[in-house]
Amino acid sequence: MVQKPNDSRGLHGQVAGTTALCTVGASGSGLTYCGYDITDLAAQASFEEVAFLLQHGELPSQTELTIFKQSLAEQRTLSPLLCQVLERIPKDANPMDVMRTGCSVMGVLAPEHSFADQEQHAIRMLAQFPAICCYWYHFSHFGTRIATHSQADSLGGHFLTLLNQREASATEVAAMHASLILYAEHEFNASTFAARVAASTLTDIYSAVTGAIGTLRGPLHGGANEAAMALIDSFASPDEAEIGLLAMLAAKEKIMGFGHAVYRTNDPRNAIIKAWSRKIGVAKNDMNLFDISERCETVMWREKKLFANADFYHASAYHLLGIPTELFTPIFVMSRVSGWTAHIKEQRSNNRIIRPSAQYIGAEPRTYTSLSMRNR
Ligand SMILES: CC(C)(COP(=O)(O)OP(=O)(O)OC[C@H]1O[C@@H](n2cnc3c(N)ncnc32)[C@H](O)[C@@H]1OP(=O)(O)O)[C@@H](O)C(=O)NCCC(=O)NCCS
Repeated sequence: MVQKPNDSRGLHGQVAGTTALCTVGASGSGLTYCGYDITDLAAQASFEEVAFLLQHGELPSQTELTIFKQSLAEQRTLSPLLCQVLERIPKDANPMDVMRTGCSVMGVLAPEHSFADQEQHAIRMLAQFPAICCYWYHFSHFGTRIATHSQADSLGGHFLTLLNQREASATEVAAMHASLILYAEHEFNASTFAARVAASTLTDIYSAVTGAIGTLRGPLHGGANEAAMALIDSFASPDEAEIGLLAMLAAKEKIMGFGHAVYRTNDPRNAIIKAWSRKIGVAKNDMNLFDISERCETVMWREKKLFANADFYHASAYHLLGIPTELFTPIFVMSRVSGWTAHIKEQRSNNRIIRPSAQYIGAEPRTYTSLSMRNR
């Protein structure tokens, strides 16, 4: 269906509430978290500083950051019961279903009894999501029961250590920090809005986050980086990519990793992850995926004026970090849970149940006919 200028489907362009957490460029202020520009945060902050910022509205002092990181480190280990559940999930399961189930089980094993404890539960999810993903992955694929704690100093390092079963290099950890920061928060995107709708009913934090994970799972939202990987991996060279992409556009196919529901000319996260993709490619002496990606970007802009979004260069960056494609979207979960829980907290602080109305376009009022009278 052709999209008309006043198309109201999807609530695009409509203000659906207030937030002090994020701007997404519409107001001319670019992408900011609590007033801080994403470029400054990705270049200078750690992911833990950003997660603290989203929870508290202010960057942490050194002491606050130390305490925050300590709480995260202390809560990394998964409970044996959660491990048992993860061991029952088959190898061919969608890893996003694993994350959704893992989150839900966390809420069963240690429910949120009082909103006064919401930050502790948010920390617990942040701390344990990397292990949920990696424990299941190692057990289902290799039959190995990995330790779910590590000595890594950061969440990004912890995830890479569990996944690759070796200490990550400083460059790899820095790339993960940048990636986690870029994915941490994005105003009223679909999964965050889902979390806020759930939170507005005063349900528990795990139910709200479980719903958000299910929403992020869709290919038009979180799944785009995996689809982008499949795309660039299907081309052997930049020239092949150009030919393939032109054919896809001619066939009116949607190209994953391009376009955005809010941004119109560029996604500010793209330049940051693109730079990391290039840097990792140089460090690993493997520029092929980057070169293919760059050609795709050129063709898409030249042909359609469509720009690469945050997901596109994540594909090549993650691949070179040794991350299996099927785990790309779970990383999004590990990061975005910082934004989701901040929004849940914000929703609860000034709550009114979210319950919009619909414009009715169905049948006119009519008389009920009994079953025997319906001659169809
Ligand atoms: C993100 C997305 C869902 C936004 O959808 P949207 O708000 O409806 O997009 P727009 O209003 O800008 O679309 C305008 C036109 O460009 C087309 N378009 C948008 N993104 C496109 C893409 N990635 N590939 C091909 N065409 C695309 C749309 O189909 C639409 O065409 P139409 O007018 O003929 O229907 C859409 O761009 C998309 O599906 N992108 C690929 C998935 C993706 O990367 N998602 C991650 C987002 S961070």
